Amino acid sequence: MPLSFDAPARLFTLSTASTTYQMKVDRHGYLLHLYYGTRASGDLGYLVTHCALSGMSGQPHEDADRTFSLDVAPQEFPFQGGGDMRSPALLVRGADGTFGCDLRYARHEVRPGKYSLPGLPAAYAEAGDGAETLSVTLADERLGLEVELLYGVLPAFDVITRAAVVRNVGAGRLTVEKLQSACLDLVSGNFDLITFDGRHAMERRPSRRHVENGALSVGSRRGMSSNQYNPFMILCDRDATETAGRAWSMSFVYSGGFLAEAERDQFEQTRAQMGLDDGLFSYPLEPGESLVAPEVLMTYSSAGLEKISHNLHRVIRRRVCRGPWRDAPRPVLVNSWEACYFDFTGDRLVELARRAADLGIDMLVMDDGWFGSRSDDRRGLGDWRPNVEKLGGTVADLARRVNECGLGLGIWVEPEMVSEDSDLFRAHPDWALSVPGKDPVLGRDQLVLDLSRADVRDNLFGQLCAVLDQGGVEYVKWDCNRSIVDVHSRLASDQGKVLYDYVLGLYDLLGRVRSRYPDLLIEGCSAGGGRFDAGMLAYAPQIWTSDNTDARNRLTIQYGTSFGYPCSAVGAHVSACPNETTGRTVPLDARGVVAMAGGAFGYELDLTKLGDRDCELIKGQVAAYRQIEPLVREGLYYRLSVPEEDDVCAWEFVAEDGSEALVCAVVTHVDGYGVTSYVRPRGLTPGAAYRVEGSGPELSADALMDMGLPLSASCSPYESFMYRLERVG
Ligand code: DGJ
Repeated sequence: MPLSFDAPARLFTLSTASTTYQMKVDRHGYLLHLYYGTRASGDLGYLVTHCALSGMSGQPHEDADRTFSLDVAPQEFPFQGGGDMRSPALLVRGADGTFGCDLRYARHEVRPGKYSLPGLPAAYAEAGDGAETLSVTLADERLGLEVELLYGVLPAFDVITRAAVVRNVGAGRLTVEKLQSACLDLVSGNFDLITFDGRHAMERRPSRRHVENGALSVGSRRGMSSNQYNPFMILCDRDATETAGRAWSMSFVYSGGFLAEAERDQFEQTRAQMGLDDGLFSYPLEPGESLVAPEVLMTYSSAGLEKISHNLHRVIRRRVCRGPWRDAPRPVLVNSWEACYFDFTGDRLVELARRAADLGIDMLVMDDGWFGSRSDDRRGLGDWRPNVEKLGGTVADLARRVNECGLGLGIWVEPEMVSEDSDLFRAHPDWALSVPGKDPVLGRDQLVLDLSRADVRDNLFGQLCAVLDQGGVEYVKWDCNRSIVDVHSRLASDQGKVLYDYVLGLYDLLGRVRSRYPDLLIEGCSAGGGRFDAGMLAYAPQIWTSDNTDARNRLTIQYGTSFGYPCSAVGAHVSACPNETTGRTVPLDARGVVAMAGGAFGYELDLTKLGDRDCELIKGQVAAYRQIEPLVREGLYYRLSVPEEDDVCAWEFVAEDGSEALVCAVVTHVDGYGVTSYVRPRGLTPGAAYRVEGSGPELSADALMDMGLPLSASCSPYESFMYRLERVG
């Protein structure tokens, strides 16, 4: 049983295959966190010694003997108002404007299966998963406030999910000023926090910092999860490596603003929290209303960071992503963006499709520029009718022509945005988010539509349906190229709700598109990888990882992305050289090896301009990708090097049963004549032998893992390698 309740001890134990999570209702009715770690049994309450009053910390009024303080006690859902002066999960204001609540245990319920959340994405369970849900309700009678803490246990995935529902069950208005979805209080340990930071075209570089006294936080106030910080973090032992040490992670299943915090307190305890950005958030709840804190996926590893990634890859790929594309090979794409930007016609695209067909590519994606007056990025957004003059017909007509070449057709859209120079904006200027009396801030010359409004969403849905209903479009790249600055909706009852309601609106629109076109493959995108999060992955099983297609930089970006997200989600294309972003030239072979590390592989260059040799190489790459694709999509991923530190960047995919592996490497730095580099694979079956590509000598798995696989003797910069190892026998 994944969930058990020891009634006399008021002890909740959540068990997964190799972890245990435990909490208890204490004598005051507070819900204390006891343990999240390696599977263990019994009452682990002995671990908590810091409940006694220390220093001048406050205690509950009834605790006359001063033996307890929330300021030092580990908690499941810390709130402002009980004497805990650390960062709270909940900050709520009563009808009289005062802060301060006092949440105590009210009731609990264990339910079979995994909870879902109204209007928000969440991991799901399938029959046979043995998933269970624990709901624990905390209440503050004076305020008329209830908080239902939801715990989902996915035993085989070693994942525990958390979410919370805040309810106004009283008679007055409450205002939620801060809401975190999950809190993890660890009573001992000295930790690093790893966050995934960057910028446009350089996303998700791991940043590892010691959690010292005080608070460490990253987040987004941009209305989207952002290129700058990712809603995913790992707390780990200071000496944790890929394969050793304890690590805990939190992944936010949400695509809007977030706040990720880690705090070491006065007694060297550590609190980690993940939830909604509190900066541009102040959510009123009238009597009877409720607010849902989005889901956080949590996992624990006692064997380093690699296990964290393996657990997350598995659960996101199998229980967050959904629909027919979840387990299917994705089409190999050629995307028109870096091939021709806005400068294309229907004929030019058909020419591109023809060449792509020769090379074995599956689908042509017509990127930005096919609709309205969109001849550059200053106009046209919001008018989702095809430019028939430019295309030589409708999108369906183009699809027919592309299909005749043997390819499918995909299109780019950016439904959340509007250009001031568009028919939509001229007809409905009030549909754009903007603060009355203030010139709105432009981003890429565009404004953000108010997706918190149902009428705006209905219009967008209608426009998208008008294109998609004609048929022929098999894929949509859903882009979003600016942050939200002017947070004001004409219809909102309170402006503090707008950013959260915007995200619910986005999910509503995406959900409607998915239900109407269940076979449509959606690729997420946001100025490259600005919305690479588990929330988007519930609607789009693949995401354009970064606008930076330079293979050298992609090694870093894909390395960072791999900590929290499965390779099946990684959109990676081979582009032209010198690279548009960095000006760097990397051989086509290496560009291919790097892009093939993504489960959504493709090309982003003008294939019609390539010479015969490059065409042959690409043909070979596409054919090779088809062979390795199942391993890339479903295999266990191993980071074998640190791209910024090592001269050879290497990674590996291993089938879950160890029967085959793919070792990939790119030389990034060479000194002198160079020395032979050895790459040490992991995850092979101990005691077994492997053959490279099924031929050649038998190689001992243990020797390979101990001493490594030699790459060619003197490597040149950007020489690349792909070794397929097959287990013998
Ligand atoms: C940003 C995306 O990341 C690019 O791939 C491309 O689709 C452009 N937008 C189009 O405007």
